[in-house]
Amino acid sequence: MAFMGVELFDIGATTEEELRSVHRVVLAAQAVDRPDEVPVTFEALVGGLRSPPAGFGPRRYWVARRDSEIVAVAFVNLPDAENSHLALVTITVHPRLRRMGIGTAFLRDLLPRLEGRTVVEGWEITSGGAGEHWATSVGFRVVNTMVLQLLPVADVDRSTWDVPVPAGYRVQDWVGAAPGALLESFAHARNTLRDAPFGDIDFQAPLWNRDRVREAEADLRARGVEQRMVVAVHEESGDVVGVTEVEVRPHRPFWASQRETSVLGAHRGHGLGRCIKAHMARRLLADRPDIERFYTTTSADNAHMIRVNEAIGYRTVRTQVSVKQDVTVLTAHPRVLG
Ligand SMILES: CC(C)(COP(=O)(O)OP(=O)(O)OC[C@H]1O[C@@H](n2cnc3c(N)ncnc32)[C@H](O)[C@@H]1OP(=O)(O)O)[C@@H](O)C(=O)NCCC(=O)NCCS
Repeated sequence: MAFMGVELFDIGATTEEELRSVHRVVLAAQAVDRPDEVPVTFEALVGGLRSPPAGFGPRRYWVARRDSEIVAVAFVNLPDAENSHLALVTITVHPRLRRMGIGTAFLRDLLPRLEGRTVVEGWEITSGGAGEHWATSVGFRVVNTMVLQLLPVADVDRSTWDVPVPAGYRVQDWVGAAPGALLESFAHARNTLRDAPFGDIDFQAPLWNRDRVREAEADLRARGVEQRMVVAVHEESGDVVGVTEVEVRPHRPFWASQRETSVLGAHRGHGLGRCIKAHMARRLLADRPDIERFYTTTSADNAHMIRVNEAIGYRTVRTQVSVKQDVTVLTAHPRVLG
């Protein structure tokens, strides 16, 4: 089988037949690489392709064909600001056609097309699976290990969500836009995430300020994402000292993506993390009783956050690794050179 080279895939201008071809690759790969997941429907896949997660810059899609059929696909995110040297890349080859050199040939063709990015990172690769074996064989380094945790709402004991607010604090929540009076300290509190352990990955969480918070809120609104925040406010100072964020994306309205959670160093040890996460679960289910599951990823060495999650009903589904390497090193790797 001849590898036909990679081509940019315009998600807005393509046909349903082409999208179905991409769906076949992703669905077949999911069954092999992440068999514990609910199989992605065509509609959910297309919704996710059209409205990728915010915060990681524009996303390009590349495909490779055999005859006219798409057999491999790559998602390439090009984040901005502090991450503008990075390309976040996921290459997926149809399981039927693996170990024939397609993944490596795809990478070879993609590397000169990364719009000047100098470092490639790949995230959420099933630990010990084909992706990790392949990545290390072409020169990537494993730089972090994460656990994926899932909270199946129907099975959980919701009394674990009844967590009292520690003395000296209050809890506040909102959907979409932070109240002006909290904006400054909210932005400051979100920067705590920059200290969370993420191994040796290059990607850095944004350095938040008032303007960037408002820009991110507007971006999520434009994508049709419901962004919910629960914060802990220190009564004495009036400052936000703990933050937790959930996003509900339009193509999967029954799933809640639990994103960042952080508590300022000086306010740790009072149970605020568990308190705001439990409040988030209660509040979201009160407003949207049809939510079926929460899911979240946390660094495997972040034992404290993992325990907090378990205390409110999350269970670990699988372990995933992140890999990275310089474009120049990958380009010169003997396997990539071919
Ligand atoms: C990773 C992936 C793209 C590789 O595609 P592929 O076309 O099978 O890769 P190649 O044929 O180019 O493999 C090259 C080398 O990688 C290594 N490799 C690939 N898959 C492997 C596996 N399952 N076990 C052990 N080594 C493996 C081998 O050294 C292989 O060379 P060999 O076949 O001569 O032994 C494919 O397995 C996939 O789609 N995985 C799921 C998505 C994913 O995790 N992507 C991560 C990359 S960002």
